Amino acid sequence: MSQTKSLEVDYNYSVVRLFTLATILWGIVGMAVGVLLAAQLYWPALNFDIPWLTYSRLRPLHTNAVIFAFGTSALMATAYYVVQRTCQVRLFAEKLAMFTFWGWQTVIVLAAITLPLGITQSKEYAELEWPIAILIAIVWVAFAVVFFGTLVKRKTSHIYVANWFYGAFIITVAVLHIVNNMVIPVSLWKSYSIYSGAVDAMIQWWYGHNAVGFLLTAGFLGMMYYFVPKQAGRPVYSYRLSIVHFWALIGLYIWAGPHHLHYTALPDWTQSLGMVMSVILFVPSWGGMINGIMTLSGAWHKLKTDPILRFLIVSLSFYGMSTFEGPMMAIKSVNALSHYTDWTVGHVHSGALGWVAMISIGAMYYLVPALFNQGRMYSIQLINTHFWLHTIGVVLYIVAMWISGIMQGMMWRAVNTDGTLTYSFVESVEASMPFYLMRFVGGVFVLAGMFVMAYNVYKTLRAENHSLKPVAEAVA
Ligand code: HEM
Ligand code: HEM
Repeated sequence: MSQTKSLEVDYNYSVVRLFTLATILWGIVGMAVGVLLAAQLYWPALNFDIPWLTYSRLRPLHTNAVIFAFGTSALMATAYYVVQRTCQVRLFAEKLAMFTFWGWQTVIVLAAITLPLGITQSKEYAELEWPIAILIAIVWVAFAVVFFGTLVKRKTSHIYVANWFYGAFIITVAVLHIVNNMVIPVSLWKSYSIYSGAVDAMIQWWYGHNAVGFLLTAGFLGMMYYFVPKQAGRPVYSYRLSIVHFWALIGLYIWAGPHHLHYTALPDWTQSLGMVMSVILFVPSWGGMINGIMTLSGAWHKLKTDPILRFLIVSLSFYGMSTFEGPMMAIKSVNALSHYTDWTVGHVHSGALGWVAMISIGAMYYLVPALFNQGRMYSIQLINTHFWLHTIGVVLYIVAMWISGIMQGMMWRAVNTDGTLTYSFVESVEASMPFYLMRFVGGVFVLAGMFVMAYNVYKTLRAENHSLKPVAEAVA
């Protein structure tokens, strides 16, 4: 097992390296499927009449690949890196850590096989059938043992705030996954939920929303709290704010799930509770965003020359934007317009492509040279190119979805004076077409950026040890 010397501590980077490379690979695969889906919505014939290429089967493949293969690999890579660096010890139970890597990759491969075959629990973001769900639980518990074991044997007196966020993410995702996957198997690839009716729906969206809150938010805030100060070369703006918004965030998120079930059979009071909690959630969310962005105080000029920092800071702006938009969409009267429309999809991708993907990409650009004995990435110019491809791509994507989403909502509710509907559903689909093309183009930009990244990483890995000097040194 390879080891890397840093100060007096010997950190275990092997598993971090594997997860880092997996992040880039799965990022490309997951986003390529996203681009194919975007293309299918514009050119439906692109499913070639092959069952496993149909939209309904590829859509969960996309969400699983980007959230659980790309996003979660990035979280595992950085959690293992950050917990070692901030605790100044090697990983606890290193063989178990390696098991989490291979176990998780097995989950991903099984997902990539079963979803196109149509094997699914039909619960969004929890599609994988029970044998795979059990494997996920085992790997996750192993992940928790390695992470918390490392925290326990730390040499530092306090626990750095990034680890609080990673810790909350790890514990909560375990609880969510296990509770939402309580099923009765009837065959190897088919099971039925033990919950029924409105309770089943509530459990599912308690899971779904907190997967957003703890996986797509708390975990990535952990990433933010380590990599933003590191890359900016500044301490966290306010340590006190980080602790306050941590507790507020985890205290509130867990109640907000019902905003996914407005105007359903769910009791009305639970919908109102979900709405109120979601609106309040705006405050701690912005606490995190402000803390991250203000960490740049005194170092704003670095944004001009450092595209990695730009990835990290722009990701925070998207985080701010999506956590302003989310609480608005949770208000029942707004949701009456936005639900079922592309507005939701736009909101999702301003969080997913703007926040989650950009913070991960920034962290990967920081990690690759650090893990592979280089002073910097092979080409800073290519990181800059990636930054612009990604940013333009995301903006095209979400603007297209905002316009088509609001337009759809307005068309569906328009009524003539005699009470009949002004537009048929098909008319709203036709009107959406230009925006589907625009989203597809945005997706191609984002995917092209990922290929630029892969090339840059490849050249960094191929360069001789220590031959790539940090920028300042290279100039001197
Ligand atoms: C090149 C980049 C991407 C493209 C072109 C893309 C495209 C798409 C498309 C076409 C859909 C289906 C929308 C619909 O059914 O109307 C979708 C759904 C989704 N995507 Fe992406 N995507 C990309 C990247 C990502 C990333 C990086 C993430 C997460 C980190 C993500 C998370 C999701 C989620 C959660 C959904 C389901 C949304 C919902 O149910 O409302 N996507 N994506
Ligand atoms: C304060 C924070 C947030 C609140 C209150 C919030 C609220 C909402 C609301 C009201 C919806 C629409 C539900 C519906 O009509 O079906 C939604 C959907 C969604 N949001 Fe957020 N959001 C927040 C932040 C985020 C962030 C940061 C991300 C991603 C990183 C995200 C990812 C999603 C996803 C994936 C969905 C689609 C779920 C689905 O139907 O499949 N949200 N959110």
